[in-house]
Amino acid sequence: MSNFMLHLPVRVVGGIDCIRQNSHWMKPLGKRALIVTGKHSAKSCGAYDDVIAALTECSIEYELFDEVMQNPYASVCQKGAAKAREWNADFIIAIGGGSPLDAAKAMAILARNPMESAELYQYHYPNGALPLVFVGTTAGTGSEISPFAIISNDETGEKKSIAHDYCYGTIAYCDPKYTYSLPYNFTVSTALDAFAHAVECYFNRNANEVTDLFAIRGAQLVLGALRAIEGKEQNEITPDQRANLFYGSLYAGVPLAHNGTAFCHPMGYFLSEEYGVTHGRACTVYMPEFLRRSQKLMPQKAAVLFQALGLSCEEICEFLTRINNFTPFELSKDKIEALLKRWDGCKNFVCSPEGYTVEEARKVMYSIYRPGDKLE
Ligand SMILES: [Fe+2]
Repeated sequence: MSNFMLHLPVRVVGGIDCIRQNSHWMKPLGKRALIVTGKHSAKSCGAYDDVIAALTECSIEYELFDEVMQNPYASVCQKGAAKAREWNADFIIAIGGGSPLDAAKAMAILARNPMESAELYQYHYPNGALPLVFVGTTAGTGSEISPFAIISNDETGEKKSIAHDYCYGTIAYCDPKYTYSLPYNFTVSTALDAFAHAVECYFNRNANEVTDLFAIRGAQLVLGALRAIEGKEQNEITPDQRANLFYGSLYAGVPLAHNGTAFCHPMGYFLSEEYGVTHGRACTVYMPEFLRRSQKLMPQKAAVLFQALGLSCEEICEFLTRINNFTPFELSKDKIEALLKRWDGCKNFVCSPEGYTVEEARKVMYSIYRPGDKLE
């Protein structure tokens, strides 16, 4: 058994109707809550009504901030933080996928520590942060149990991650029923993100036996369900398949919170920022390279995972490529070189097996985005 550290300071409550059945955990957090959501989905999936009922049961007053967009900008976090201060919120409840949850994490810090958005990355938060309650309504990000908040720069659109213990929730309510109405394409994309979390954190220099347990189980549940739902309509996806995707994503969140992701994640960000490719699909573009390289460098560890998944490395690559259905487009040399510069020294490269080099990334980028060009 290798050395390990397990830090998960969030009460994770899972199951159908878990908010209504466990609302009492919110009582110690205070009397006034700011609810943070996107525009529609928190209400349409039923989570908002459950939260309101739970707060009412606990005699907690609430105010709604429903302005969080996809890939939230720092400015919306500032706006939500100002509202939390104005409303004198004791805590924040975020309902949604990664975007409202991540934005709420930044708001919780900014509400107690008014500062410029750029200062968030200096990690000096002398006044602490408001407590956070999370209600996840998608199956993929793992944000419910991670200390990361990915926030977009208002001027450049560039996504940058805040990693701090103040981003951990006090409670995460995890009810898979909120995912029942998610469309097929969205379901696949978020599941691919969860699978990427599991395997990028498994083949990772920060991995240990405990995080491996969660990574393997997470990958198993997500890949099994993904294979079962391939090509289905939204209403043909069963509650069991939804639950496997949801809990698989949650399990994959444990190694994510501890190890961080490897090179597929940063190499996917530009596809989301500039070309509208959803996050899970963007990361999956590099998954065949990641899996084949990991198998080569860590054959024994790879054999354990692939046996648990019941597929060979090549079978997994083939499946992921098919379900991802990404059509590469041409990038200029200048663009590729600028991206490589951005990734130089990137910690996700460093924590990939044996460290991933910019030179390796250059080869992959040319083979995907300039397939006719020969690299020396
Ligand atoms: Fe991700």
